[in-house]
Amino acid sequence: MTQAEARKRHAELAAEIRSHDYAYYVTANPVITDRDYDRLYKELVDLEAQFPNLVTPDSPTQRVGGAPLKEFQPVQHLLPMMSLDNTYSEAEVRQFVARVERLLPRETLAWVVEPKVDGVAVSVRYENGVLTVGATRGDGTTGDDITANLRTIKSLPLNLSARAKQLPKLLEVRGEVYLPVAQFTRVNQERVAAGEEPFANPRNAAAGSLKQLDSRIVARRGLDIVIYGLGFLEGVDRLGGHHQVLEWFKGFGFKTPERIWTCKSQEELIDAIEELDQIRTRFRYQTDGAVVKLNDFALREKIGATSKAPRWAIAYKYESEHAETKLKSITIQVGRTGALTPVAELEPVHLAGTVVKRATLHNEDDLRRKDIRIGDTVTIQKAGEIIPEVIGVVLTKRTGAEMIFEFPKKCPECGSHISRGAAGEEAVVWRCTNPDCPAQVRGRIEHWCSRGAMDIEGGGEVLVGQLVASGLVHDVADLYVLTLDQVMGLERMGEKSAQNFLDAVAASKSRDLWRVIFGLGILHVGAGVAKSLGRHFATMDEIAKASVEELTNTEDIGEVIAQSLFAWFGDSRNRQLLDRLRKAGVNFTSALYKPQAPAGALAGKTFVLTGTLPTLKREEAAAKIEALGGKISGSVSKKTDYVVVGEDAGSKLDKARQLGIKTLDEAEFLQLCASMK
Ligand code: IVH
Repeated sequence: MTQAEARKRHAELAAEIRSHDYAYYVTANPVITDRDYDRLYKELVDLEAQFPNLVTPDSPTQRVGGAPLKEFQPVQHLLPMMSLDNTYSEAEVRQFVARVERLLPRETLAWVVEPKVDGVAVSVRYENGVLTVGATRGDGTTGDDITANLRTIKSLPLNLSARAKQLPKLLEVRGEVYLPVAQFTRVNQERVAAGEEPFANPRNAAAGSLKQLDSRIVARRGLDIVIYGLGFLEGVDRLGGHHQVLEWFKGFGFKTPERIWTCKSQEELIDAIEELDQIRTRFRYQTDGAVVKLNDFALREKIGATSKAPRWAIAYKYESEHAETKLKSITIQVGRTGALTPVAELEPVHLAGTVVKRATLHNEDDLRRKDIRIGDTVTIQKAGEIIPEVIGVVLTKRTGAEMIFEFPKKCPECGSHISRGAAGEEAVVWRCTNPDCPAQVRGRIEHWCSRGAMDIEGGGEVLVGQLVASGLVHDVADLYVLTLDQVMGLERMGEKSAQNFLDAVAASKSRDLWRVIFGLGILHVGAGVAKSLGRHFATMDEIAKASVEELTNTEDIGEVIAQSLFAWFGDSRNRQLLDRLRKAGVNFTSALYKPQAPAGALAGKTFVLTGTLPTLKREEAAAKIEALGGKISGSVSKKTDYVVVGEDAGSKLDKARQLGIKTLDEAEFLQLCASMK
């Protein structure tokens, strides 16, 4: 294929993929199968590997950036990002409308009502149609540069030109990033499975995700965005009002609020707010209210803003699903990773269709911050409609007889020392340090047996509790040497169910490697990470032998996960456990493994390029190395395997000679690549 042909095909593929992304992520109406989509995408990836000069920042392949950032850079918003005043009653909404009517006598006012998306406000800048910068609100004037994270959102166009009749020179749009409720549930399940703290609600999950310095992690979260406002605009004819802007946005492929109401009177407005309340649970995002906006831009300008919020818009907050009840006591749950979670034992109360008896108090710091005491009347809510949580104390109902809860200094299950991490999410979690803690042992075995892991029917809380309490099982390998007599000897266990359980245990021996790895319950290693490992490595032994660096070369695996894996496999107790599982006949090979040869033929090899090569451009040489799994480094060190030397090579060549590192000219380099195929 010639450069020109490649360029043409690249443009076709990029356009086609963009339109499929739009159909899938914005309108939720996919027109091709996932397989066909993957095929197009792969063709684009391969084409770009062959012609690296075609990779532009707005290519569909460029949604996930490279290395994690060290910190976020500040971004100045072109126009300040303001907040909204809140109202909580119909009367206040009417007062607001009346106030605007007074400020604008003799005008006929039109209003727009739209959902107030419960997420994180962001601003996204397009220069000549290309997404260049995305930022958080920050203090309203300056925010954090979270461009890499925003690029991972598939419904956010990276380029507007394909759909534009008239392209703005500069455009800043405002919107709300959210984690769809379905994704929130999945992410939390994965976090719990990987021994991490679940997010309290979708908004926290979205905010936490946007603060991630590693955009690869963000990409896996599945964030989405709704665009609801215009920030800065230059280079197109003036638009008259908000409704028109939203239509204009849609034309560019932005996802705008899925339902809006245009209203001409207070009555219509109140009706719209009520109707929105009726249907808002059907949206893919959580809404905590309605936003009422004056439509006309010229009128907006006339009445302006206060220092913090515009005078032409207001938020109306719906009542959330809260309930009040009495906190009878606090218990501490010890999870399989040893995490100590305080749990509120409540007087049963109705909340959003269920009776709630227990709610999470998250962690000690949270408990202290909210100053929650035993005997208090507390407010609870369904966090993201899922796990109930205690959100605070009703102080007016405090009598003085309440008692401060002493967080245990030792593990309540086994009395061992507890400790917590130095920084980040780990700093709030106390963990029992005793790997033999019965709560942890039970938790690990239940996790091993769970449907998502080894899928051993019957291995639930009750039976596992009995097996551990009777001393028959200390770890998952013990399951494979149980005898029928032993299992039948447990209380309320007949021969038939005992045999069924043993059959299920035996059947689990042939499960695929990723299930085994996930089942081991290694910190931060959820099912997704386990599958990535299964694709990248052929056997358990290869994973056990891998260095941190090799582990981070695996898709989806960053430094934190790699360190956790490395530490786990480095522990002699864990290695003994693996030996016993192997002897028991548990499968240690991966059916997902995709041999990467020839792609991986240079895996683990580090190259340095120096000087000008006679025919290959630097990017072309780099693409060849990367396509074969090699790495490129900017400087020569003992770890360098090859230095590819062109004309006018300088100090790097000297250094290579000094260290005795193999040097290649272009012909030798090409030969090496060819021999690897
Ligand atoms: S308009 C100057 N529209 O609510 C007006 N905001 O409480 C800017 N929000 O900071 C905001 N949905 O994060 C607007 N449809 C919507 C919204 C919305 C959610 C958030 C936004 C804003 C906050 C104000």
